[in-house]
Amino acid sequence: MSETTTESHNPILDIQGVSITYNSVHGKVYALQDIDFTLDSGEFVAIVGESGSGKSTLALGIIGLLPPAASLSGKILYKNVDLAGIEKKDWVNFRGREIGMIFQEPMTSLDPIEKVDRQLAETLVVTKKRGGGSVTLSSSETPSVQEAQKDGEIIGETKTGKLLLREQVYEWLRKVRIADPESVAQRYPFQLSGGMIQRVMIAMALSLSPSLLIADEPTTALDVTTQAQILKLMKTLIDQIHMSIVLITHDLGVAAQVADRIVVLYAGEIVEEGAVQQIFTHPLHPYTQGLLKCYPKSAETTDRLQTLAGSVPDLRSEIKGCKFADRCPFVVAACRQEKPRYVEVEANHHAKCVLYY
Ligand SMILES: Nc1ncnc2c1ncn2[C@@H]1O[C@H](COP(=O)(O)OP(=O)(O)O)[C@@H](O)[C@H]1O
Ligand SMILES: [Mg+2]
Repeated sequence: MSETTTESHNPILDIQGVSITYNSVHGKVYALQDIDFTLDSGEFVAIVGESGSGKSTLALGIIGLLPPAASLSGKILYKNVDLAGIEKKDWVNFRGREIGMIFQEPMTSLDPIEKVDRQLAETLVVTKKRGGGSVTLSSSETPSVQEAQKDGEIIGETKTGKLLLREQVYEWLRKVRIADPESVAQRYPFQLSGGMIQRVMIAMALSLSPSLLIADEPTTALDVTTQAQILKLMKTLIDQIHMSIVLITHDLGVAAQVADRIVVLYAGEIVEEGAVQQIFTHPLHPYTQGLLKCYPKSAETTDRLQTLAGSVPDLRSEIKGCKFADRCPFVVAACRQEKPRYVEVEANHHAKCVLYY
């Protein structure tokens, strides 16, 4: 999936000048300001930032699920359609099938009173009715399932259809490495572990075969071992399906494990972006440098870990200069006078800091 400079750019997602403000009872919250970034087809980008930096706001903005009290300006071009301008009723054509989502709180995305098999089967039937669903992940699908798909039969409506549907449910559970799909399919969400639920969520999102997947902290609630397994699984499945992905995480280590490129968000602004290698070997922005100091390079260094001093500024007022100025070890007078420019310091590696111009 690595990019070469000779490859022509083919953005699947092109975010232009997006700002999102919440109009809360306590006043306005400027959650995101003037966000620009593009995601090429097949690319895996991680958006990294501390809690409160606007990551979930960005995810909700992309998929049109912001609360009514939020206002959005700017453009969100998905395959050249501006999602910021589409009607509510037209979202059905995009959400799920074009743009898949995996959320931080998987429990809230699954229906607590439906067994796993029904929930996954419903997704598969929806896919089928919309003429999709022929995801080729491996050659392990049974010939009968493939034949049924070729015939255009809507699975689930006839007796054989029901059997095929059940087989597809098991197949998807196996694809997300659930060893005993027959048993797991018969359980309710509360009977599953966090890791298992997240696997089911991934199966549901991927079975719709979206072109773009937005995953907001998909592994945050899991223990380190399960987290690593789930990330590896996502990466494998995504490589096979050729999907583009935006992974949202507060953890640089998670981003480094799977992403091609990292976008660093601070207090609602992008402060740096570059290839994973560039960010880790020579971070440019003092904020990214600070984040990396907090990131353990090996188990032995954990006890000497630094934490980034200070906290994210109050987003209820508009800040004139650089939002990181109060926490920055390199701050100069200019930082507080005007917004720093976003400059390309080396090929495909940008930073928003006066140190670089
Ligand atoms: N519904 C809301 N109403 C008002 N403020 C909100 C709302 N949701 C989020 N915020 C504020 O927007 C900012 C960004 O939040 P969020 O996008 O959840 O950050 P992250 O996902 O990076 O932790 C925070 O200051 C948060 O308090
Ligand atoms: Mg969040």
